[in-house]
Amino acid sequence: MPPDTLILRQPDDWHTHLRDDDMLRAVVGHSARQFARAIVMPNLRPPITTIAAAQAYRQRIQAAAGTTAFTPLMTAYLTDDIAADEIARGFEQGVFTACKLYPANATTHSERGVTAIAKIHRVLERMQTLGMPLLIHGEVTDADIDIFDREAVFIERVLSPLLSDFPALKVVLEHITTDDAVQFVSAAAANVAATITPHHLVISRNALFAGGIRPHLYCLPVLKRERHRLSLRRAATSGNPKFFLGTDSAPHARDAKESACGCAGIFNAPMALESYATVFEQESALPRLEGFASEFGPRFYGLQLNPRKVRLRRTPQPVPERIGELVPFHAGQTLGWLFEGVIDA
Ligand code: DOR
Ligand code: ZN
Repeated sequence: MPPDTLILRQPDDWHTHLRDDDMLRAVVGHSARQFARAIVMPNLRPPITTIAAAQAYRQRIQAAAGTTAFTPLMTAYLTDDIAADEIARGFEQGVFTACKLYPANATTHSERGVTAIAKIHRVLERMQTLGMPLLIHGEVTDADIDIFDREAVFIERVLSPLLSDFPALKVVLEHITTDDAVQFVSAAAANVAATITPHHLVISRNALFAGGIRPHLYCLPVLKRERHRLSLRRAATSGNPKFFLGTDSAPHARDAKESACGCAGIFNAPMALESYATVFEQESALPRLEGFASEFGPRFYGLQLNPRKVRLRRTPQPVPERIGELVPFHAGQTLGWLFEGVIDA
C-alpha cells in the first residue's frame, strides 16, 4: 500500500493565468496556497510587453496574494515589433523570467501575438545568448488545419525549424496535448522541455461531449484523443526531467464559459496538486511526483529548489460545484487526496 501521507518539496506552477483586478483577487490565493512560485502568463489586455508593465503587474499580484511566500515570475508577451533590448534588460534586471510566444490569434488575448517567427529573429538570438527561456503556445492558426492537428503541425512547421535556427535556445513547449509533442520533446536536446496540465492528464476529448457540450472543459490546445492522454500520463510519470508541472489554470467568468461562443480555459488552481497526485497514484508513480512537481522545473529554469515542504493526505476530497463565481476543474467530483498545507520540515 502506498503511504497515506505525502510530503513533497513545495511545488511551483510553471504556467498559470492570474488575470487582473477582481478576477486576480478571486484566484491568486488558490495558486499561492499550493505553489511557492508561478510563471505568470502575460496575456492581459493590453498584454505585458514592457518592463514597467511587468513590474506594475507583479506588484498587483503580490498585493492581491497578501503574502511574501508566493513569488510571481513574470513573462514578456512577444509581439512582431517588440524590442530585443527591452527583453534583454528585463531579464538582466530580474523582471522577466521568460518570454511567451503566442502565434497571433491562437488563443485568448493572442491577437497581438507573433505573425511569423522571422519577425522575432533578433529577439530569439538575444534570448539564446542570454539563456532566457522561450515559452511556446504550440499551435498553428491556419483555419484550414484541423483543430486537433494544430499542435502536431506546429511542431513540424514551426518548432522544428525554429530549433534548427536556434539550437541552444531554452524552449518550453507549453501545455502539451499530443503523443507527437511527447515524442518530439523526448528526442530533443536538453534545452527543450514541456509542461503538462492536470486536465490533459485526466480527460480526453470525449469528456467535452459527455452527455452534452461541456464548456468548462474547453481549453486550448483542445483536449485530444485517449491515446494522446495516455502518452502524456506516461511522460509525466516517467521521471524524465523534460516534463514538469504547469497547470495552465485559466479562469473565465461563468457566463463567458456558458455562452454561445464560450471562452477557452479551465480553472484548476484550487485542486491542482490533488489532481496531479491522483493521476500519479493511479499510475503507481507517487514517488515520481516530487520530481515532476518540484524539481525538474526549477532545474530547467536554473532556479533554486524551494526549501519548504507541503503535505497531502490520502482521503476523499469532494470538489465544490462552484468556488465563488467560478466553476473549478473536477467540480462535483471527489478526488483521492487532500492538500493540507505548507509545513516546516
Ligand atoms: O485554454 C486556454 N486558456 N488556453 C490558452 O492558451 C489561454 C488561456 C486563457 O488565457 O484563457
Ligand atoms: Zn496558458
